[in-house]
Amino acid sequence: MHYCIPKNRIGPSRCQHTPVYKAVPRRDRGIKKSRKTWWKCGQRSKCWGKATTPVSHELITTEKSKKYTKPPSDEPRKKIKVPDAMPTQAISEAKAEWNYQKTYHNSQSPEIDQLMDMIGLEFVKKKFLEIKQKVDLAIRQNIDLSSERYGTVLLGNPGTGKTTVARLYSKFLATVGIIPGCKFIETTGSRLSNEGVLQCQKTIESLLKDGGGVIFIDEAYQLVQANSSGGGQVLDFLLAEVENLTGKIVFILAGYQRQMEQFFAHNPGLPSRFPHELKFEDFNDTELMLILEHWIEKTYQKRMKIDGDPGGLYCRIVARRIGRGRGSDGFANARAVENTVTKITERQAKRVARERRNGSGIVDDFFLDRARH
Ligand SMILES: Nc1ncnc2c1ncn2[C@@H]1O[C@H](COP(=O)(O)OP(=O)(O)OP(=O)(O)O)[C@@H](O)[C@H]1O
Ligand SMILES: [Mg+2]
Repeated sequence: MHYCIPKNRIGPSRCQHTPVYKAVPRRDRGIKKSRKTWWKCGQRSKCWGKATTPVSHELITTEKSKKYTKPPSDEPRKKIKVPDAMPTQAISEAKAEWNYQKTYHNSQSPEIDQLMDMIGLEFVKKKFLEIKQKVDLAIRQNIDLSSERYGTVLLGNPGTGKTTVARLYSKFLATVGIIPGCKFIETTGSRLSNEGVLQCQKTIESLLKDGGGVIFIDEAYQLVQANSSGGGQVLDFLLAEVENLTGKIVFILAGYQRQMEQFFAHNPGLPSRFPHELKFEDFNDTELMLILEHWIEKTYQKRMKIDGDPGGLYCRIVARRIGRGRGSDGFANARAVENTVTKITERQAKRVARERRNGSGIVDDFFLDRARH
């Protein structure tokens, strides 16, 4: 798409070149008359600045066409300034809402507190709050939620926090009273396929004896993978159980988006049994940096100092480098950050050992040096 500019730049005029794509409605011409305007034309290179005769090309404001603006020849081109700080993380709306609920409605949930301390995951945080609000309302209305389905599927790429959140979620469901018991069984799709239907039945019975709870099937797509012989049978068995056990046992599934689509295609009855979906997005560079700092802070109980300080150049470079893998299959999000920290600390250990051997004065064990490891 090309644009040409009328010579006087004010008021309607027509460029001499064709085609004219769309007439500007008469009412708009008046409104936009005083603005700088661009006119759509098929041959920008030929008609730049040559439009003369009045009338009716499609009108767009300079605001929209900024990237087509030709810089005046005598003015030097502006250099693009690279920001020397990461874009700051938007304040979590969910966290603000939770703080509000805690302050003014006396709401409490240690699981939500823990979730709010995790980096990013805004969608997941909001979903927890929605469930909490619904349960609180049901309590005030004095209605029974035991017939509602809370089957949940957690979808996301590696290292986005699915397993961590699933554990929190199961405790959360028990503490808000959605399920009667607080027993939690964690298994995987491949373990269930290997153990077969009989073992699965025993697991469910033992859970029921304990008053109910959550069965979390991590990497659930493994149940329908070609190399899983018993997986299909277990899944067919679970299909009926999930429905029959509503209100007593909640099933939580987790897996990668693409593989889980294949999983749900296995049986048309599956999606409706898992009406809740928690989506885990890949972390952006700022979030990766915050996870890096959070991880270092947690591991060394805030004693480790970082060259350039948290949020400084060193942390930004590390986060950007990790973030370069985003979009590729093996990109492991928060796990990639943890692996990077392992490498960093290995290099630090080598440097510290070298400096101690060389007798280079006092060596600080709690300093991550950008330049020397
Ligand atoms: N939002 C987060 N903030 C801080 N740490 C996180 C966050 N999400 C995940 N982590 C950390 O990343 C690591 C991997 O998380 P987890 O195992 O839950 O990911 P996953 O999505 O289950 O990965 P996979 O699909 O490969 O099993 C854990 O050590 C966890 O503590
Ligand atoms: Mg996992």
